[in-house]
Amino acid sequence: MSRLVVVSNRVALPGESRAGGLAVALQAALGERGGVWFGWSGKLVRSHSGQVHEQREGDIRYVTLDLDRADLDAYYNGFSNRTLWPLLHFRLDLVDYDRATREGYRRVNALFADKLAPLLREDDTVWVHDYHLIPLAALLRERGVGCRIGFFLHVPVPSADLLMAMPDHQRLFSTLYAYDLLGFQTRRDNDRFQSYVRLYGGGRIVGEGLLEAPGGRRFRTGAFPISIDTAHIARQAAAAMAKPALRALRTSLERRMLAIGVDRLDYSKGLPERFHGFERYLQRHPDQRGTLTYLQIAPVSRGEVGEYQHLRSQLEQIAGHINGAHAEPDWTPLRYVNRNFPHATLTGFYRSARVGLVTPLRDGMNLVAKEYVAAQDPEDPGVLVLSLLAGAAQEMSEALLVNPHDLDGVADAIATAATMPLARRRERWRAMYDYLLEHDIHAWRRSYLASLEST
Ligand code: G6P
Repeated sequence: MSRLVVVSNRVALPGESRAGGLAVALQAALGERGGVWFGWSGKLVRSHSGQVHEQREGDIRYVTLDLDRADLDAYYNGFSNRTLWPLLHFRLDLVDYDRATREGYRRVNALFADKLAPLLREDDTVWVHDYHLIPLAALLRERGVGCRIGFFLHVPVPSADLLMAMPDHQRLFSTLYAYDLLGFQTRRDNDRFQSYVRLYGGGRIVGEGLLEAPGGRRFRTGAFPISIDTAHIARQAAAAMAKPALRALRTSLERRMLAIGVDRLDYSKGLPERFHGFERYLQRHPDQRGTLTYLQIAPVSRGEVGEYQHLRSQLEQIAGHINGAHAEPDWTPLRYVNRNFPHATLTGFYRSARVGLVTPLRDGMNLVAKEYVAAQDPEDPGVLVLSLLAGAAQEMSEALLVNPHDLDGVADAIATAATMPLARRRERWRAMYDYLLEHDIHAWRRSYLASLEST
């Protein structure tokens, strides 16, 4: 078996607990096979970018590099999160394009390539992750790297007409043609990417999942829905129930049911809409008043980007309004928390919740939806309310599927979930859980790598 080298902007170093699907998934994926994990250290330094650190734990070797202020601003806060993130989440209205940050993005990708190329052996399998590193394979090839390189995009692909609205789109997206395999979360993402290549990307489709770039180079694309370590999360959640944090939560609920949401504080997650949907539930279902408490955990994310700061103050305002308008002296309907918790504790929160609320406006997959299901007590499982616009909805049709823009629909789904009889809850849960046991993170990694290694 060849050595696996995983590259991503975000690396979860040993002992770190990170919010965000990518870090959680790659941690689980590397855990089984071992290999090298290369990426940004998460550190901001005053001196020049590029200082490299190494650390080893078990079979994983972590190689990370630091970034300075100018690089971080252009590459991470700028082009990655002000341009590409909104574009890929269908939010052309939020796209902020600027040639200087585009150049910074390229410069940091070249820095990654400079530091990574000397570490690579000819028979390595390199697996690059997410929108921060689109040009990396092309830059590695320029530096003489000939090994297999795959790419996986954790976020959605919007339609071709949105992609082509970004200035100079072809210059960036055609660098994807230097990979051997491009993996997307769902069939629809894969199809939209193929249409882009055909309509605006100068390439053509030559077979099932086989594409040809303008110069004649061929590469593959496919859908590989990411997943979780299902069996591990089920065990972790059961064990977490004995933790003091969980006992404290249970006591504080005073026998009321719990609804839970766990999301990075990001506009793609539909949090204002979800809060409004919850208020609509309180208004439309007065008979259920006081029976359900909603806990929203939303760790701050990308706090240097204006749009995220704006969202934070917006949510504070809505949360304050909801509690002001609906609380009782002995009951607060909405508990809103901006910090992160250890992953094991979160699985205990999921297991304690009768209702799981996952209602993004767009999401590549959404692993909270899958973790919520994996964490349930088989004897008394909760109900997942899931946005139709999350990739996960394409695999989890037994959830209560909602359109997150339809506040009445979200309100009624919360009410249905909170009152669903045990037999129906078990039936729906079982179908999703069995599916997730088979389609877990290990199956995802194996199927992607088998596909890459057969190119
Ligand atoms: C999403 C992205 C990841 C990213 C994560 C957390 O899941 O697809 O690439 O790592 O969000 O965001 P952050 O900016 O903190 O890395």
